[in-house]
Amino acid sequence: MTATAEQRLHTLRAHWQAAHDKPEETPDNTLRALWSAAAGRPLSAVAATHIALPELDADAMRRLDALLEQRLAGVPLAHLTGRQHFLGLDLLAGPEALIPRRETELLGRAAIELARAAASHDRPVVAVDVCTGSGNLALALAHHVDGLRVFGADLSEDAVALARRNAALLGLADRVEFRAGDLLAPFDDDTFHGMVDLLLCNPPYISSGKVEAMPGEISAHEPRLAFDGGPLGVSLLARLMQDGSRFVRPGGWLAFEVGLGQGNAMARRLRNDGAWDDVRELMDEGGAVRALLARRADRAMGDNG
Ligand SMILES: C[S@@+](CC[C@H](N)C(=O)[O-])C[C@H]1O[C@@H](n2cnc3c(N)ncnc32)[C@H](O)[C@@H]1O
Repeated sequence: MTATAEQRLHTLRAHWQAAHDKPEETPDNTLRALWSAAAGRPLSAVAATHIALPELDADAMRRLDALLEQRLAGVPLAHLTGRQHFLGLDLLAGPEALIPRRETELLGRAAIELARAAASHDRPVVAVDVCTGSGNLALALAHHVDGLRVFGADLSEDAVALARRNAALLGLADRVEFRAGDLLAPFDDDTFHGMVDLLLCNPPYISSGKVEAMPGEISAHEPRLAFDGGPLGVSLLARLMQDGSRFVRPGGWLAFEVGLGQGNAMARRLRNDGAWDDVRELMDEGGAVRALLARRADRAMGDNG
């Protein structure tokens, strides 16, 4: 690293405040990502971790210093580079949608395994990702599992537009279709009722009161709609568990992320509902339940047929 780079790394280190929701970001890869962005080659922090620093002319050096200043003022790195890494993909990121978090890779990896198992059947396999945001989960599924037909949807038209741009960037636009609408409404027809192999969701699950108290780096830059799960934080989760069984085919799976402290109650609710016959908790490295999987029973209580 040159003296110019060392000096800027020193400044970043001196002001560094580790963000628990973005554990992949360090002073070193932040500098590399901003340096690369200033050179006109946007990369996420993860993708920039091992790059050599390209030469910067005087204009590019001024761009770098402006980016560093914005980062130190609390603008998310992903908004400055326009990129965020998720399950092996460098995705477009911006204020239109939540910046995908590493913690959501737990749900994403489980979804990929379930989709691979389903994809071994000799019929078209359908995955639906609601609350899709930037499309990270839907696109990771399509990228990592061949032969899947993937649909994503979000209430926010801006998020859907970003998800579509991501699909185009990754060459997945012919396999992943994004729609706009409320939760499962965009799929509420016979094409999807009882036909979905995997219903995936990372919903907003923070209680409205706690959303007010979120750090400024989050609340000032990411859409409130991505976090606010209603008075108790579980409004969308409750609707998903209630309505999801109409869409998932017998033997198919519902898979969703939950907030810290919500998992056990949600798992109990699924186990008490005859629509699901296998409910599994997924834990993070600290042992907290952060995602749930539920398999649709072959013949659920309350089914007519
Ligand atoms: C926690 S973010 C998840 C985004 C993305 N799936 C991810 O994993 O990073 C929740 C998303 O749900 C969307 N959303 C909120 N309420 C919704 C609703 N009623 N119907 C559909 N999407 C909704 C938000 O716009 C946001 O994109």
